[in-house]
Amino acid sequence: MIHPVLEVIHAHRSIRRYKPDPVPWEMVETIVAAAQRSSTSSYLQTWSVVAVTDPEKRDRLAELCGQQEHIRQAPVFLAWCADRYRLDLACRMHGLEQNTEYVEDFLVAAVDTAIAMQTAAIAAEALGLGMCFIGGIRNRPEDVIALLDLPPRVFPISGMTLGWPAEDPALKPRLPLEAVLHRETYHRHQEEHLRAFDEEVRRAGIYRRRTGEVLGWLEVAARKAAREGRSHLRQVLAQQGYPLR
Ligand SMILES: Cc1cc2nc3c(=O)[nH]c(=O)nc-3n(C[C@H](O)[C@H](O)[C@H](O)COP(=O)(O)O)c2cc1C
Repeated sequence: MIHPVLEVIHAHRSIRRYKPDPVPWEMVETIVAAAQRSSTSSYLQTWSVVAVTDPEKRDRLAELCGQQEHIRQAPVFLAWCADRYRLDLACRMHGLEQNTEYVEDFLVAAVDTAIAMQTAAIAAEALGLGMCFIGGIRNRPEDVIALLDLPPRVFPISGMTLGWPAEDPALKPRLPLEAVLHRETYHRHQEEHLRAFDEEVRRAGIYRRRTGEVLGWLEVAARKAAREGRSHLRQVLAQQGYPLR
């Protein structure tokens, strides 16, 4: 590999089993300080992260995120949140009122949050920690908001488990580069790449039915994409100050 940063990036795999050993608080600070170096739209820095180590709270989070056992196991849970609450304060301090009416206003904060949390993931893995994003935090966002006492305009985008790996899973293959990297214009005819990837995932034995039948990527992805999911989010977003017009 041509650079140690690329080595860390290419070694990524989500960790879902953790040792009980704690993560020193200074490491959490180092990871979040790295996330803060990320680029941020208009220098607004519209994200926050709530670090949870309390076992009872992690237990409740595990329940709220769809009974994910690794949330109970991992010594640290980070709740990455889109955060325009601080801008409410800035506006108030200057006699203004923040406008978070439009999709764009939420999108800016969600993109900032996603960029920051991925930087944090790389920092954590560079320190030898394991991590896994937890989209399950959006299963019952209203309960997460209450548990973490999130003020208006703070909305959980993703959780992240953090801890010392107690497993060493194989890397999951990714789509062929040709499927995602387009030159000059978008190339629509990707079926060949998708079939090749489907076969690669089947060979790797990533998806298995209870019957032992091995599935490829296409069927699983298609079923997930066709499903209706988290249909109540718009309402919770509106309650939290993002009506999304
Ligand atoms: C936004 C986001 C949410 C995710 N949510 C979950 C989750 O709730 N539970 C989980 O076990 N993995 C979750 N993952 C991890 C993905 O399943 C994982 O990244 C993907 O299968 C690829 O595997 P890899 O990270 O090991 O390469 C999430 C990943 C992302 C980016």
